[in-house]
Amino acid sequence: MTVGIVGLGYVGLPLAIAFAEAGTPAIGVDVDFERVKALRAGRSHIEDIPDSQLAEQAERLTFDTNYGALRDADAVLICVPTPLTPQREPDLGPLLAATADLAGVLTKGQLVVLESTTYPGTTRERLLPMLEGSGLKLGDDFNLAFSPERVDPGSESYTIQNTPKIVGGLTEACGDRAEALYRTICEEVVRVSSPETAEMAKLLENIFRSVNIALVNELSILAHRMDIDVWEVIGAAATKPFGFMRFEPGPGMGGHCLPVDPFYLSWRAREYDMTAEFIELAGKVNQAQPYFCEQRVIEALNDAGKSVNGSRIAILGVAYKPGVGDMRESPALKLIELLRRHGADISYHDPFVPELPEMGLSSADLDGAVDAADLVVIVTAHPGIDHSDVARRAALTLDLRGVTRGLDAPNVHRL
Ligand SMILES: NC(=O)c1ccc[n+]([C@@H]2O[C@H](COP(=O)([O-])OP(=O)(O)OC[C@H]3O[C@@H](n4cnc5c(N)ncnc54)[C@H](O)[C@@H]3O)[C@@H](O)[C@H]2O)c1
Repeated sequence: MTVGIVGLGYVGLPLAIAFAEAGTPAIGVDVDFERVKALRAGRSHIEDIPDSQLAEQAERLTFDTNYGALRDADAVLICVPTPLTPQREPDLGPLLAATADLAGVLTKGQLVVLESTTYPGTTRERLLPMLEGSGLKLGDDFNLAFSPERVDPGSESYTIQNTPKIVGGLTEACGDRAEALYRTICEEVVRVSSPETAEMAKLLENIFRSVNIALVNELSILAHRMDIDVWEVIGAAATKPFGFMRFEPGPGMGGHCLPVDPFYLSWRAREYDMTAEFIELAGKVNQAQPYFCEQRVIEALNDAGKSVNGSRIAILGVAYKPGVGDMRESPALKLIELLRRHGADISYHDPFVPELPEMGLSSADLDGAVDAADLVVIVTAHPGIDHSDVARRAALTLDLRGVTRGLDAPNVHRL
């Protein structure tokens, strides 16, 4: 068996490696020529995949920009981006382009699986007609299923292998084939009755997180007004062994998933005369959080007799989450933009993000940035940095991640 993977990003590349490690040759196709060139030269762009892991599987991996390479695959998994338009509506552009190209090379006997997150109905209503446009027929000539990716970049506990994989086929046979495929790399495969169920299940997972993060973000604003330590509140509530799940406030929501995916469902809901209130409200609260953090910066500097204008502010961690260099939708960008509007002199340190070209900044040396700053703002707490030590040394610290809990000092402010 050989698998083809379309889109070699955070989802596609680890998937290609997982199949290769299980002994199945993988053909990766991506429209990004530079990315393909680097992968062919053995260079990975994903933190979770070191070059050495790529090298170990070199014999079973091929990378191409040409869809023709997929003709040799028994199964083709689509892992391209599903972003929002500037008007915050689903942008299926990359997915439809990939499907059109795949339809051009679709081969009798192939299984196609969509992994990209999308609204319920996409696989059946959008992919199927395009693939059948090739002249091949579902069931007779090819199979089609949806199986959402659940990768957690940067996580050491959960891998493709030990994270259960949901599979929904267009027909029973489609589901059977997709299930058999994923059983070669995943310990547990969860079969559902349709691709729509699988599509919605993925959205539910992300909406669940978005709503709960919004809840604690809102609570952080209230707790601050009431002069209650929100971290202590959450820590106390989390001692309940049932019926509570810990979520933490922060500078806002980032990444490709949580700020984007929920709106795929609220968009679709409108077709059914529904306003998905929880989704919209959570989005609104989470989008407002960088503005609350801006206020907290103003307050912290004010307490020290300073204004934002002309203050040197060092941002620690600009990626959207710890342990990765992913900048997509990172709230750090919004915060930097807001503080610059007030005339702040911004520097940053992030071991995973050497450059921020859109801000004209490069990652500064940690000690130098901390020592020179009027205020250090901990935006993302990357591993390997002693944040309590930073807070002890810095003139003033605002901790937006609660990593200096236990450090009670007048020059340390926490969200
Ligand atoms: N990143 C995550 O943590 C994560 C987790 C679960 C699900 N997802 C979902 O998986 C999908 C992919 O996300 P990602 O983070 O891997 O994106 P990514 O941007 O890291 O990678 C996508 C890749 O697809 C390529 N691409 C774009 N258009 C293409 C086309 N027409 N043909 C071939 N290649 C094309 C891009 O060049 C890029 O290399 C999205 O739907 C996302 O919502 C992502």
